[in-house]
Amino acid sequence: MASRDTAVGQTNHQSTRVLKVDASKIGRFIFDDTQKSFLANWKIQLSNDSPDAAHLLEAALRLRDSDLPVAFPTETVYGLGADATRSSAVRGIYFAKQRPSDNPLIVHISSLSQLRNLLISNPIPQIYRSLISRFWPGPLSILLPLPIPSPLAPEVTTSLPTVAVRMPSSPLALALIQLAGVPIAAPSANASSKPSPTAAAHVLHDLSGRIELILDGGPCMVGVESTVVDGLKIPPVILRPGGVSIDMLRECPGWEDVRVAYNDGAETAVPRAPGMKYRHYSPNAKVLLFHGPFSATLAKEYLHGGGIGVLRTKPWDTGNLRTNLTYSKDSGTAETNNVAQGLFSALRELDEKGVDIICVESMNDNEGDIAAAVMNRLRKAAEADIIL
Ligand code: TXA
Ligand code: MG
Repeated sequence: MASRDTAVGQTNHQSTRVLKVDASKIGRFIFDDTQKSFLANWKIQLSNDSPDAAHLLEAALRLRDSDLPVAFPTETVYGLGADATRSSAVRGIYFAKQRPSDNPLIVHISSLSQLRNLLISNPIPQIYRSLISRFWPGPLSILLPLPIPSPLAPEVTTSLPTVAVRMPSSPLALALIQLAGVPIAAPSANASSKPSPTAAAHVLHDLSGRIELILDGGPCMVGVESTVVDGLKIPPVILRPGGVSIDMLRECPGWEDVRVAYNDGAETAVPRAPGMKYRHYSPNAKVLLFHGPFSATLAKEYLHGGGIGVLRTKPWDTGNLRTNLTYSKDSGTAETNNVAQGLFSALRELDEKGVDIICVESMNDNEGDIAAAVMNRLRKAAEADIIL
């Protein structure tokens, strides 16, 4: 263990390179079926003389051969990828982001045939058919029984009998996995406990000097991580809310009765004492979750001389609120998809300004497709609820 850590630690002396890749300039996707579905077989023909294609290929070769993880964009958040079949590579992920070693990773695939190879003789359980055809490629991770013996490194699944798998919809991520030719284990590419990265600059901020390569494909479209579901349970359950909502799942055959199996304290709504919580998705500043419009008077009780940042999720009629504040940031309009897209970057942006506390206006979990995912991240990030 010590010698491995030393070996990986040597990268601290090297600089991290950020390589830009424009997905529209990497080459041509060639599909086997006329529907141009990524679920069937497909391949990528890289453009000659394209720096974007060269960058993508370099990252793919590193994923295949090196033990240092590579950061890459997906449609949800940036991932920190490694060959899921090699223990030395997967350990590089845990080391780079200082992730607790008992938190399992999601395996990313680029085709169903790759998934079938991974499962060896296990079929894909019938319950997932409807989800796969509707949501893949996309922001949904499904739990599958881990085959015995497994081609995956044990560090991917920790000691669990299941593996979480997802096919991302970002063409860049798909092309990268396809070129690497191996399943890619990838958690979000933030330092453990920090908000997930939705831009290459966020990854660089957290992991500079700890990894060698970041593929920069621009900002992520969804902005919160994938929904994680377990269809092996009866009834099936949601383990983490994300880009696919409970209502969308309920429309699928076999998923009408899907339950929520995560507990983010939504039901209890008991005010929490500041500093009493395990931190997750947390900027350096304290996050206060306002259940109602932001109130400077209430926020000031938590302030010890520093600045206040405010993250608005609603077009409240707040008069000249802004002029009284140190910083304010709209996370979008009242449209929840925009809130999700801008959420983590807004938390990071306010943090960069050095504020002491960030006040975030809450929203209702059922206010839109992605509101439950947004509120789940905010409840985890918040040190205290301010209930008006
Ligand atoms: O959108 C996403 O899912 C992003 C991008 C990069 O694809 N990835 C991501 O990974 O969010 P991570 O490691 O930050 O979150 C993985 C989640 C964790 O909550 C983990 O506990 C859960 O998936 N998970 C992974 N394997 C599991 C398993 N076998 N059983 C239960 N939960 C599992
Ligand atoms: Mg994460």
